[in-house]
Amino acid sequence: MKKDLSLIRKDFPILASGEVIYFDNAATCQRPRQVLDAIEDFYTTHNANPLRGLYAWSVQATDAYENARHRVARWLNAREDAEIIFVRNTTEAINLVAYSYALSTLKEGDEIVLSVSEHHSNLLPWQMAAQAKGAKLRFLEPDDDGRITEEMLKEAIGERTRIVALAQVSNVLGTALPIREAAGLAHEAGAVLLVDGAQGLPHMHTDVQEINCDFYAFSGHKLPGPMGIGVLYAKRELLEKMPPFLRGGEMIEYVKRDSATYAELPHRFEAGTVNAADAVGLAAALDYVEALGYEAIEEQEAKVVRIILEGLRAIPEVQVYGAPEAEDHHGIVTFNIAGCHPHDVASVLDEEGIAIRAGHHCAQPLMEYLQERYGMEFRATARASVAFYNTEEEARRFVEAVGKVRGWLGFGA
Ligand SMILES: Cc1ncc(COP(=O)(O)O)c(C=O)c1O
Repeated sequence: MKKDLSLIRKDFPILASGEVIYFDNAATCQRPRQVLDAIEDFYTTHNANPLRGLYAWSVQATDAYENARHRVARWLNAREDAEIIFVRNTTEAINLVAYSYALSTLKEGDEIVLSVSEHHSNLLPWQMAAQAKGAKLRFLEPDDDGRITEEMLKEAIGERTRIVALAQVSNVLGTALPIREAAGLAHEAGAVLLVDGAQGLPHMHTDVQEINCDFYAFSGHKLPGPMGIGVLYAKRELLEKMPPFLRGGEMIEYVKRDSATYAELPHRFEAGTVNAADAVGLAAALDYVEALGYEAIEEQEAKVVRIILEGLRAIPEVQVYGAPEAEDHHGIVTFNIAGCHPHDVASVLDEEGIAIRAGHHCAQPLMEYLQERYGMEFRATARASVAFYNTEEEARRFVEAVGKVRGWLGFGA
């Protein structure tokens, strides 16, 4: 890290007491003072409804919002700012593509290829589109290392494929999916690729032109950014052909009683008052990540994950899923403790001041699959997910606590 880890932690007011070990970063990350200040500054110095008013505050609010868009466009290496649509979160971004692109292009018998490990947010919108248009969903199943391979993609993507929708990184297994290969195969088949970047962008540099994806979705709150702001990147040629998703204020060119024409990109896809303050907060989060550097972020997270893994693997009753020691793994360790429901595991760890996620992780088809494959007792797992501000000491305390869980729950007593 360019900055000392203890100094980094000082940036996060919620971590100040040191009382909580926060290992639920895949659900949402904590925000540094710099992001909170940027949001406060927006509301205290130039709050007005952007894109409408002709007075100074509104113009300043518009500039702040559009500068944030420019920051995101540069971050993802989009060709132009108009390819960046601000939405609430990854879920809304994928729904936008499903309602607008999929419903207007899919035909009966077409196929949508996705993996069984997708978050529900990258599944339910495709179920909706497939049902509406008579299309079919085809699922890829991860191997024992939690991986989707290029061979699997080659097998599944064919002439009927119209959409390939994959996570950049699985929110349960932590493994990266072969999205560059998926882009090539999808385009060969005349299909488009949507990448769900919710668990990717917080950990790795992402260049949408280099990946050559057609759509890329992410949420600000999984970076150290605000909740309520997310992004859909889409290639201009696709956006040009897509009908609006939501209709109303500020996305129009001219409205008559019975019809309307729509604004230019990107505003055509941003109906209603926009979330300018959180867009500004997101830009501040990107500044923060840039100052740290992805290399340093990955290095710190890998150190913490290594300690967690070595510790968990040494506990005979613990089973870890996927291959978290692999290089293409990012910050997530999913496990079970024999005989213990993951909810009980999370509850007793909470009493020790350790926050982890337990349950189905919004990936119920994956839970079913893991249960069949590994005979899991419950259709649920416990998940520790780390961020760059987590320390090796926290990892050691976590492992020690996991080692005591069965005792606390009355096993072997
Ligand atoms: C891989 C993945 N996709 C999509 C989402 C949904 O994100 P959001 O709730 O911010 O829309 C999540 C959230 O955990 C996720 O992990």
